Amino acid sequence: MTHNITLIYGDGIGPEVIASAVKVIEATGISINWDKVIVGEKALEDQGMLLPDYAINSIKTNKVALKGPVTTPVGGGFRSINVQLRQTLDLYANVRPIKSYPVKNCLYDDIDLVIVRENTEDLYLGIEHMVGKDAAESIKIITREASERIIRYAFDLARKENRKKVTLTHKANIMKLSDGLFLESGRKVAKEYEDIEFEDVIIDAMSMKLVQSPRNYDVIVAPNLYGDILSDMAAGLIGGLGLAPGGNIGKEIAIFEAVHGTAPDIANKNIANPTSAILSGIMLLRYIDEVEGAEKIEKALTKTLKSHGTMDLGGSLSTDEFTDEILKEMAF
Ligand code: NAI
Repeated sequence: MTHNITLIYGDGIGPEVIASAVKVIEATGISINWDKVIVGEKALEDQGMLLPDYAINSIKTNKVALKGPVTTPVGGGFRSINVQLRQTLDLYANVRPIKSYPVKNCLYDDIDLVIVRENTEDLYLGIEHMVGKDAAESIKIITREASERIIRYAFDLARKENRKKVTLTHKANIMKLSDGLFLESGRKVAKEYEDIEFEDVIIDAMSMKLVQSPRNYDVIVAPNLYGDILSDMAAGLIGGLGLAPGGNIGKEIAIFEAVHGTAPDIANKNIANPTSAILSGIMLLRYIDEVEGAEKIEKALTKTLKSHGTMDLGGSLSTDEFTDEILKEMAF
């Protein structure tokens, strides 16, 4: 069977790390027809649109995509293409596993948790306006429907992966209505899953506890903004953004992409760590039930990480050299 998968190289280090992930996935022998599409500034230059219809239609048809990071201008400029894609396709669950691999700068050698981030609302709706010249207002939207849906997703994932606990993080002591609704939804949904432990932790304390005792956490469910910040922080615990994959998952469609962005500081130098993109590819393969291929890559990647590293991991290999080492391991 041939799988049709939409492929988005993205900007900055995107083309380098996605090329590596594609090589490694292809080395499994799984038959894939990559449907390459372009979004973002490059699409604006070529097609006159940041998010061209053909790209959206490709993802809707293939139902699964592997994506590199895409630039979002800071301050002014256009709205994030990533956020637009997630909202347009209703990819409501941003699933970000944080797992220790044998690398020098991993702070704990046995972390294995998943951050489940609500992906469609909160401050990411981008509803902002100026109030006069000297004040700005952003509107935070939290709905019962989206909250219950993501919390249920977190519990279902815990059951599926045989995980024991769901921790919901919030700031309901201050945002009593919006975060209060998220917390209330958690307490309600938790009653449907009595086999899974449930707790809630205020986001500031959560940040400290996650750094001090990450082993205490299994599945963490969070509204959009806290989930985003917490997952970058958690990546720091296992060796950095070079090691943190993710999936944006909806009812029928999923886009897999690393947690990291375009890393303009290291782009086009052949030094980016492709591990996050490769791990995102592994998540994709599991999603399409190509479990054997996923396991083959993860085994080879883990062996490679043990003896080699890219610069961010204190190693000296280029992106291409690191990819070649994984391919050699896979050939055994
Ligand atoms: P970033 O994640 O691109 O980089 C943060 C730091 O981590 C940089 O020092 C970078 O060199 C390092 N880093 C990231 N990935 C790495 C890798 N694979 N190997 C080695 N080092 C790596 O975050 P930043 O600089 O805040 O954002 C840059 C751009 O990326 C912005 O336009 C932002 O909007 C966009 N972005 C896009 C995302 C997406 O498309 N999903 C996600 C996050 C940011």
